[in-house]
Amino acid sequence: MTQVLQVTAELFPLLKTGGLADVAGALPAALQAQGASLRLLLPGFPAIRHALRHETLVAPLGYPWGEGRAALLRGSLPGFDGIPAYVIEAPELYDRPGNPYHDEGHIPYADNHRRFALLGLAAARLAEGLDPDWRPDVVHAHDWHAGLACAQVAASRQRRRTQARSGFTIHNLAYQGTFGAGAFNELGLPPHFWAVEGVEFYGQVSFMKAGLQFADAITTVSPTYAHEIQGAEQGCGLDGLLRSRSAQLHGILNGVDGAVWNPATDGYLAKTYDADRPEGKAACKAALQKTHGLAQDPTAPLFAIVSRLTEQKGLPLVVDALQDLLDGGGQLIVLGAGDARLDAAFNHAAARHPLQVAHRTGMDERLAHRIFAGADIVLVPSRFEPCGLTQLYGLAYGALPLVHRVGGLADTVVDCTLEDMASRHATGFVFDGFHTDAYRRALRRAFALWQQPEAWAAVRDTGMRQRFGWNDAAKRYIEVYQGLQR
Ligand code: ADP
Ligand code: GLC
Repeated sequence: MTQVLQVTAELFPLLKTGGLADVAGALPAALQAQGASLRLLLPGFPAIRHALRHETLVAPLGYPWGEGRAALLRGSLPGFDGIPAYVIEAPELYDRPGNPYHDEGHIPYADNHRRFALLGLAAARLAEGLDPDWRPDVVHAHDWHAGLACAQVAASRQRRRTQARSGFTIHNLAYQGTFGAGAFNELGLPPHFWAVEGVEFYGQVSFMKAGLQFADAITTVSPTYAHEIQGAEQGCGLDGLLRSRSAQLHGILNGVDGAVWNPATDGYLAKTYDADRPEGKAACKAALQKTHGLAQDPTAPLFAIVSRLTEQKGLPLVVDALQDLLDGGGQLIVLGAGDARLDAAFNHAAARHPLQVAHRTGMDERLAHRIFAGADIVLVPSRFEPCGLTQLYGLAYGALPLVHRVGGLADTVVDCTLEDMASRHATGFVFDGFHTDAYRRALRRAFALWQQPEAWAAVRDTGMRQRFGWNDAAKRYIEVYQGLQR
């Protein structure tokens, strides 16, 4: 049985800033159900460190940059029964409140290269047998935070200290973890890794590149994104490297964790419902309108955004065309955190149109569930989107996704064309070309369909019956792991 170490910085439900946490939280159980033996490795951020139970000390871990050392602990995390977790205890690096990557002013921590270098180093030490009870055959690293794990495992293999292989999953190529050249000397990598064929990227150290260069297999979170990142437009400067590795690059679509995202069992909802008995959704919409001061009107289509407020998510299109949404008699609820200008724009709209627009700033897991349940349409007009999970949650909860045809959005939503409606494949609204007019036309299609309640219900029904489970993805990951051991 393949033994796999999952290396990640976030883990739902303990620590989440975005979809990475949802994936890292759902994949372990899915892999375990397919027969993999796996364990987790995480930095000891407060939410993780405090949740660890039945802990034992595995071994101390020296810092590669100088004096001091961390402790590698092993224990269990709530919700991950039978999947032991390794946690790096290093309070001076990780014991900081809030976001794992930056301070309250959104400034990345100056020692991030050290904080995440240690994560990679711990992975390689485990691959070398630091824990006499268990040793991974495959180290599976997620996003730039864990990218150095792949470089460290490669270094350990060169020194003949391990035979383990590594896999690297790109959740978002736009966040690369780049640091000044001086950081290299603090990472504990062999000097010859400072090279174009190593971790050097235009004179800087890139943790993302470390993953892409040294992983034995690379995956990303949708087939379309796997293709897109091999081109200049979405390659973020790494498309050449990705093209050179295309034989080892796999697009594996994320799934939906049905234990967390299921309107039939969701304890946060005013009323549960499913595709066979969708009536409860009306109660969820009424509750959402009431709580947020929107007009209590079942005939007004309720649009929703649950999102990090960043450039990636294409929200300026929504702001630009807000008047169209309002003129059509629509309502909009926004739950988001991030960019101050977007936040101000939605605040302003909510203040001007309190019966039609509601806005909540911050991260709120419970409200997110209530929004997907209460909304009729979820807006995901992203400029780029590796996979995207909110359109999948929208489908599951009967909120038709309106999306830009890009990345995982293109792979998961079928536009309401006449032919796809006739064959009952249509699940939402998809626009081509990232500009306001294209978005506006999709908005008009949504209003037109809303005028035909039976057709709307049929599309919603098709959407709610889609199954984006984790089983298929877990099988694909296991094939990738097995391919590495041949
Ligand atoms: P990304 O990882 O790029 O942010 P995804 O669509 O993959 O995008 O995942 C976003 C995840 O974060 C989803 O689980 C979504 O519900 C959640 N989310 C985003 N913003 C918020 C928020 N303000 N409050 C609660 N959950 C949020
Ligand atoms: C990233 C991407 C998002 C993806 C998520 C989980 O945050 O932006 O598209 O769904 O990772 O893989």
